[in-house]
This record gives sequence, structure tokens and C-alpha cells, in this order.
Amino acid sequence: MATLLAFDVYGTLIDTHGIVTELEQQLAAPEQAAEFSRRWRDKQLEYSFRRGLMGTYVDFARCTREALEYTDRALQTRLSEADKDHLMSRYAQLPAFADAEPALARLAEAGISCVAFSNGSQEAVTRLLAGAGLRDRFEEIVSVDEVKRFKPDPSVYFHLRQSLEAEPADTWLVSSNAFDVIGARHAGLHAAWVRRSPEAPFDPWGIEPDFTVPGLDALVDRLT
Ligand code: 2OP
Repeated sequence: MATLLAFDVYGTLIDTHGIVTELEQQLAAPEQAAEFSRRWRDKQLEYSFRRGLMGTYVDFARCTREALEYTDRALQTRLSEADKDHLMSRYAQLPAFADAEPALARLAEAGISCVAFSNGSQEAVTRLLAGAGLRDRFEEIVSVDEVKRFKPDPSVYFHLRQSLEAEPADTWLVSSNAFDVIGARHAGLHAAWVRRSPEAPFDPWGIEPDFTVPGLDALVDRLT
């Protein structure tokens, strides 16, 4: 039985591709919206990894903004500064996945403690979760910003454990991001992989999640 669940935010609780509808309205060619969203997210994560390697930490929102600028250049979508400002403000209000609130409610009923754990800053994640109606489901928000390193640097998982005063054996990461699951397992935590896309492969690194579920309902079934 898990004693403490640390939920990844972007991609696990919050749907980063919830921006597609907005992109369809902003882009001159709306059919580019899905590809734009996918490349934006991939580049945002790549920038966080690269900044980690270079030792040039910045707020995650800056990785998001720079990835937006890059995607605009790569796809030649010619967004104005005002369009980009608007997309950033919508990105700060992305929606939750439909299974998030019901699953968190069931976990609360079962008395399982939940925290949010993200690359996003305290302020950004607090606002994002509040806007998506999830903030009250979390006892705490732990941000990598407190140690100025990005996932999957081992120091961020150590920081999570220290913040929660939890033993590794009692601490579970719940994430749809395979790199996050591998990072947590490598740092000695338990981890559940939420395989939100049935065709998503897991990285063949020989470091496996404790278990894999297709969504958050199945996670709760497994833990309660
Ligand atoms: C998060 O930390 C990795 O984007 C993911 O919320």
C-alpha cells in the first residue's frame, strides 16, 4: 500500500495538448495545431534537459516560452509577440485530464496523501492546479525550482523526499513521463507509469516502473 503519492503535473494531471483548440484559432493553418502542440512540448522538455546539462537553470516557464519561439520558427507560423503572449497565458490555464479529479477524490476517501511534484514553479503550479479545480486535492506542491535543477536530476527526487520527510520505500511517483519514472526509480523511489497513450513505448534502459496503468482510475484501483 502506498503511503504517499507524488503526482507529476504536466502530462499526468494536466493535459499539455489542451492547447490545441487555442492553436487552431491562432494559426493561419489550423491543421498544424496538433503538430505545433507536440513539437512545443517536446522542445520545452529538451530545453529543460539541455539547461540541466549546461548548468544554466531558468524558470520552467522560460523553457516553455523559448520552446514556443522555436516551434514558431521551425513551422514558420509567423506568430506575433501578442499571439505568443496570449498562448503563454492560455498555457498557464491548461485543463486537467478528465480522470484526474475523480481519481484524486477516491484517493482522498481512502486516506492516501497526495502531493504535486513538478518542473513548474510553486506559483505557476498553484495557479495551474487551482484553475483546473485540483489544488485542494494536494497537501503540498513541491517544485524543482527550490533546488534549481530539472527532472530527472537525482537531486530533485532527493529534494522531494526531504520536503516530505518520507522514506524512499514509502514514496511513490506517479507520472506519464517515462524519463520522470526512470529518474525516480534511479533515485530509489517507487514509481507508477501512467501510459496515457496505448502506443507509447517505455525507454529500454533496464529501469522499469513498479507498475503501469492506462489512466488514473486504474491507478486508484491498484492502490486501494
Ligand atoms: C512536470 O514536471 C515533467 O513536465 C513535467 O510537471
